[in-house]
Amino acid sequence: MIENLLPICYILAAAGFILAIKWMNTPATARRGVIAGELGMLLAVVGTLLRFEVVNYQWIFIAFFLGSAIGVPLAYLMPMTAVPQRTAISHAFGALASALIGTAEYYRHLPHGFPMGALVLETLLGFLTFTASLMAFGKLQEILPTRPITYRGQNIVNLTLFVLAVSIGIALIISPERTWLFPVFAALSLIFGVLLIIPIGGADMPTVIALLNSYAGLSASAMGFALDNKLLIIAGALDGSSGLILAIIMCRAMNRSFSNVLFGAFGQVQVTAQKSVERPVRSASAEEAAEMLDSARSVIIIPGYGMAVAQAQHKLRELFDVLTRRGVDVRFAIHPVAGRMPGHMNVLLAESDVPYDKLCEMDDINPEFPMADVALIVGANDVVNPAAQNDKTSPIAGMPILEAYKARTVMVIKRSMNPGFAGIDNELYYLPNTLMLFGDAKTFVGGIVKELGALVRN
Ligand code: TAP
Repeated sequence: MIENLLPICYILAAAGFILAIKWMNTPATARRGVIAGELGMLLAVVGTLLRFEVVNYQWIFIAFFLGSAIGVPLAYLMPMTAVPQRTAISHAFGALASALIGTAEYYRHLPHGFPMGALVLETLLGFLTFTASLMAFGKLQEILPTRPITYRGQNIVNLTLFVLAVSIGIALIISPERTWLFPVFAALSLIFGVLLIIPIGGADMPTVIALLNSYAGLSASAMGFALDNKLLIIAGALDGSSGLILAIIMCRAMNRSFSNVLFGAFGQVQVTAQKSVERPVRSASAEEAAEMLDSARSVIIIPGYGMAVAQAQHKLRELFDVLTRRGVDVRFAIHPVAGRMPGHMNVLLAESDVPYDKLCEMDDINPEFPMADVALIVGANDVVNPAAQNDKTSPIAGMPILEAYKARTVMVIKRSMNPGFAGIDNELYYLPNTLMLFGDAKTFVGGIVKELGALVRN
């Protein structure tokens, strides 16, 4: 009876994972996707606990309660702005689990042939992803320096270490009995993970996290081959391939070369904070902004990281409602790397129930800017910086941007003239059609809504 239940659980779990990825493709079905993934994981865990090899539940339940005691508060207490580093630390633990299972399997069974090959791949990727993810966490949390750390011959050192680890891995596959080699292999993999991340700067870190996600998936898939567990093979392959595709999409959106990210310091752009030169800008009050928005026919709102910091998404929804009621066409322009994680803006705007059909992707909305009366930028900076198109020497040269500067009037809500993530000045702020609206995004948008309310009553 139980033997029949296991494959059913696993098939349903695999279907849940596949549907989860399919549904998470668009904001309209994303919540359903999360539930499908969770149910899939529940079935996978229940199925595994039913296996005849599990003879005692005591330690499993202790680990379950300990893990939940850490995981549940982490999920509730971690602010949305810290999700990238939270993802990094989750990968670190997942990869460590995979590497430790591989290590236990090696010392218990000394597998030979194909299972040993899979086990070597699993532990190599598992250990290196563990330390690389911890490094990524440290950089994003700013416990470690975020700038790239480079030195002469770095790539040769990294490559040598990697080749050495792989050679020892091959030696272990040929004769697994040489158990003394395994700790050396594990140590080299752990060190390689650290060295891999050192030369990569903060700006590339999200792509690196997607890539580490892919490594952790491949490690889990290899573990599936080593343990002969088909669900692990499927789940790991899905994780590995989706992480890789996400990394490629992000590379394109930031105009970073994929091989550059993959091999660390190759052609690494050194991003240095640039102090903005004192130049005059035009600024306006909430009242003036409200009047201009009131007389506009078409408004495009561009949210960025500052909207997330200020949690201004609910106020933006109110602004959307007020303007729409007054017959203004309001749309939101979403840059693929606005904020600090993929889909950051979509998640926040969905939370405040902005209609999905009003969220426009970059390629669809860019031709619309010349027809827009107002481009209202809310806490975005790099993703609207014309330097990406005009200045070949800029660190963000070639990065696709939202062409807000083409709108009749550009309004920028931010607190100061400080630069954004890339640490560079923004020419947009000095253009004759730009108005700076200095203040916290939530407070300022709230102010505009209030002023518009007063205008409506007049
Ligand atoms: P940024 O270029 O980082 O600019 C955000 C702006 O928000 C800052 O200039 C800041 O100016 C303003 N701000 C901060 N807090 C605010 C508040 N409470 N109220 C109002 N404004 C506030 O953001 P972006 O345009 O969204 O671009 C994203 C950048 O992050 C890109 O360079 C991208 O490559 C990088 N990145 C993206 C990701 C992903 S996957 N999305 C991950 C990591 C990095 P003030 O300080 O003057 O207010």
